[in-house]
Order: sequence, then structure tokens, then C-alpha cells
Amino acid sequence: MGFNLAILISGKGSNMLNIVDACNNKTLSSNVKVVISNNKNSSGLAKVKEKGINTKIIDEIQIKKFEERLSKLLCEEKVDLVCLAGFMRILSESFLCNWKKKIINIHPSILPAFKGLNAVKKAIEKKVKYSGCSIHYVDKGVDTGEIIDQRIVRVSKTDNEEKLAKKILKEEHILYIKVIKTLEKEKENDKTRQ
Ligand code: GAR
Repeated sequence: MGFNLAILISGKGSNMLNIVDACNNKTLSSNVKVVISNNKNSSGLAKVKEKGINTKIIDEIQIKKFEERLSKLLCEEKVDLVCLAGFMRILSESFLCNWKKKIINIHPSILPAFKGLNAVKKAIEKKVKYSGCSIHYVDKGVDTGEIIDQRIVRVSKTDNEEKLAKKILKEEHILYIKVIKTLEKEKENDKTRQ
């Protein structure tokens, strides 16, 4: 059973485009109702518009106003799962408490290692031998919410930040689809139990 999805982005949106494609080709049963960016220059926005997806820009600086507009949009579109995909803004506790276990985020590290900004750079600096990506429920902390799933990549001696980020992103695309599929199945099971 699919979700009405909102995908929030700030940048190039490769995870978002991958989710849109998976919904369009029925790999997922969900529907992308809206793609929202806090950055009008996100390159992903233009690309997804071409696919006929509803896009919105919310560029309010003030958090309260930003979240008011976001809530209104999510309710109007009857969204029941929000996917953060390279969305570089913190959401407040008061907003999140209305969306408990309904917002998930992807992060380019094996959490709880390297939370926050520049996760891949930090992994290179620490000379870790393995890194990867995590998807977690969003709570009031930064990348602290319950981990749903992870994928690992081997860091090779020749990897720099750019090379490692590329390797991780490839795994992110696989992981995001897998997690949404799992959540779709859980939703289906909950429905049949009712
Ligand atoms: C991804 O690597 C994602 O994990 C990261 O931003 C990139 C967005 O790529 N997110 C964070 O660092 C969040 N803390 P994309 O725009 O191509 O999907």
C-alpha cells in the first residue's frame, strides 16, 4: 500500500529523482504528490518539473513561517510520508511532534558516526575503512532519530571526499527505495490487521 509522498530537497536532488522514477515505473506503489525545496536554485527542481511533478519553493527564512507554509502544503496534498533527500534545514520540535514517524531522512554516513554537516569529509579525515549511508526517522536532534536501515561501502586508500561521496550516493539510491518499499509493506500489514 503506497504513500502520498512529499520529498524535500535543497540541492541537486538525485535521490528525489530516483524516488520519482521508482514511483512512475511502479517499483514503488507510492505517489509523489509534491517536491518542495527551500532553495529556488535547486537543480533538481527544474528536472522534476519536466517530469510533470508538482513542485513548490518555500524560501521563508523565519522557521515559524517556513513550517506554517510547509504544514499547509502537506495537509492540502494529504501527504502521509515526508522524505528528506539532501534537505539542509532543521525542522523544529513543535513541527516534528505533529509528524512523528512520518518524516524520514537520508544521511551519508553509518550513523551514529559523523552526524551533521560534511559527513563524508569527516569520514575521509578520520581515515575510516568503511562508511555508507543511513535512513532514519527525524526527531528533534540532528541525525539522531531511530535508524531504519543502512548500507555500507568500503573506503579505499585512493578515495577523496568527492570519490567517496559518489560511491555512497550510489548506495543511497538503492537504500531509499528499499526503505520506502519496506514502509509500504508495513502500512499494508497495519491496514489488514485493522
Ligand atoms: C546526499 O548524499 C544526502 O545523503 C546528503 O546530501 C546529499 C544529497 O544528494 N544529505 C545530508 O548530508 C543531510 N545531512 P542529492 O541531492 O543528489 O539527493
